[in-house]
Amino acid sequence: MVDKKVLIAYGTRYGATEGVAIKIAEIFRDNDVLAEVVNLKEKSDFDNFDNYDGLIIGSSIKIGQWTRHVKNFVRNMRLEIQKLPGPFGFYVCSAYAALDEQYAKVKEEYIPDKLKEFDVSITYYDAFGGIIDFSETSKMGWLEKKIMKLAGNQATGVSVEAEYTDLRNWDQIEKFALGFLDLIKS
Ligand SMILES: Cc1cc2nc3c(=O)[nH]c(=O)nc-3n(C[C@H](O)[C@H](O)[C@H](O)COP(=O)(O)O)c2cc1C
Repeated sequence: MVDKKVLIAYGTRYGATEGVAIKIAEIFRDNDVLAEVVNLKEKSDFDNFDNYDGLIIGSSIKIGQWTRHVKNFVRNMRLEIQKLPGPFGFYVCSAYAALDEQYAKVKEEYIPDKLKEFDVSITYYDAFGGIIDFSETSKMGWLEKKIMKLAGNQATGVSVEAEYTDLRNWDQIEKFALGFLDLIKS
């Protein structure tokens, strides 16, 4: 029987964060927890989170920043997030998160450090790898491709030769989802 409900609200640019939200929701449903998955670009007008037993926010990272919609959502819902009765989780998708030597640093920089600017604290969060898509159908514009190719040449560890690289580690994502379920159910 489904008796708990979690809101997964995300902001994506190239699709990685959205795919993670969908995967987490699937894992929740397999464990009898309902997940409402919301793209903050399409809906962000929440009065409160009274209908939910938990909240997860996911964001894409571009030049060190969350998406505009995630930023606005956290700013507008700051007080409601602070008084959430259930667990609060946050994840980002980023190229650096896939690099062993950068992971711990960007996990802090992209999540708790940024949340502090809104007076929001967090204990459950993780940084996952992202998608680097240089293909014809990519959502990256030419300038973004250029930035990525330059960054890739420097230190992201991303192959700039490959057309499409998915850096997400699905085991890591599953562990994050299952850990959140433990918090919801406890
Ligand atoms: C123009 C551009 C800038 C980026 N800047 C960063 C960055 O500062 N740090 C990082 O770790 N990844 C960076 N990335 C990689 C993205 O985080 C990655 O593509 C991820 O998949 C974004 O999430 P999304 O697919 O949900 O939009 C950048 C990618 C692009 C195209």
